[in-house]
Amino acid sequence: LKLILIGFGVVNQSLTKVLSQKSNDLLRKYGLKPKIVAVTDSQGTAINPEGLDPELLLRVKQLKGTVGSYPRFSQPSMNSIDVIENVDADVVVEATPTLGGDPEPGLSHIRKALIAKRHVVTTNKGPLAVAMPTLLNLASKNDVRLRFSGTVGAAIPILDLIEKCAKGDKIVSVSGILNGTTNYILTRMAEAEIEMKEALKEAQRLGYAERDPSCDLSGLDTARKLVILANLAMGKQASIKDVEFTGIENITLNDVLEAKKASCMIKLIGSASDRLKVEPVKISYNSLLCVRGAMNAITLKSELGGEITLIGKGAGGPETASAIIRDLIEIKCSITESIARGKILQ
Ligand SMILES: NC(=O)c1ccc[n+]([C@@H]2O[C@H](COP(=O)([O-])OP(=O)(O)OC[C@H]3O[C@@H](n4cnc5c(N)ncnc54)[C@H](OP(=O)(O)O)[C@@H]3O)[C@@H](O)[C@H]2O)c1
Repeated sequence: LKLILIGFGVVNQSLTKVLSQKSNDLLRKYGLKPKIVAVTDSQGTAINPEGLDPELLLRVKQLKGTVGSYPRFSQPSMNSIDVIENVDADVVVEATPTLGGDPEPGLSHIRKALIAKRHVVTTNKGPLAVAMPTLLNLASKNDVRLRFSGTVGAAIPILDLIEKCAKGDKIVSVSGILNGTTNYILTRMAEAEIEMKEALKEAQRLGYAERDPSCDLSGLDTARKLVILANLAMGKQASIKDVEFTGIENITLNDVLEAKKASCMIKLIGSASDRLKVEPVKISYNSLLCVRGAMNAITLKSELGGEITLIGKGAGGPETASAIIRDLIEIKCSITESIARGKILQ
């Protein structure tokens, strides 16, 4: 499986490490032999059709700050779109950030890759939150897969569960804590009885919150994940415009302590049933959703199966790399199946 990595930050560096460490296992168990043929970051590009060396890629990025310094195979004249359109590959792994409300550059990366008939794995919520139905149609029209397990819940296989659960049953609602940063902040406010400003600083020091935490605090990050969940689980054709969202910025220490007196915690909950909503909600200590720290918890309710709740770490390099690997294995299986189908038809 020839891979193009777009973006070489926390996620794609973790993926590169894991692919290198687990190469024997992946080949033995799944017949998966990924070869990284191109990588781009915001400053440069490295391309080698025979495969780039993962260790060298990581070292070059660490020492020089860009994959554009990769010896002999740097391609300064090519940006990420040129790479997607011109380098021979099976899968594009898109892991660039979405800043503020702008779904670019990820949206163009994904669109161009699908049009060029490359399978896409993305961890970037922004493009899906604005254009998920269109992108899925584009993938289907071009007979390729668009997979996005890493966009919601990282290591929690919630999207895989939805695909399995939806067969023969109907998911009627989805709700949960989809953002670890706000959950960490609200938990610390309750446990240490500190103001939000202090809890946020702690979260930033520990790497749970970005320097600019506005997307998390405003509920936008949760709203994006909710769109992805609702579209996949409930067949909605929603975009971020359909979500009513309120963040946690106005939650005070007093609110948190009042909730504590009633054996509750305030949590930022995303929920999808008839409407898509994100808002701070008082949750009883007894609820399965009352998870602490940076954990995520997601409950699916289906007509026949009732409620299923998954709990786990919703972010982190290795956790998100594990989601990408699940997607790559899915794609490998679908390629193998379509080759087999082609042979039967012949
Ligand atoms: N980190 C997590 O735990 C996690 C979990 C789930 C989902 N995600 C999502 O996954 C995506 C990547 O996250 P991350 O943590 O890896 O972010 P990151 O560490 O900030 O890395 C982003 C990478 O994208 C590159 N980039 C930015 N603009 C680009 C462009 N136009 N063309 C090519 N490369 C470009 C950056 O280049 P430079 O290196 O040159 O700056 C950097 O290498 C984000 O959308 C994030 O929300 C992250």
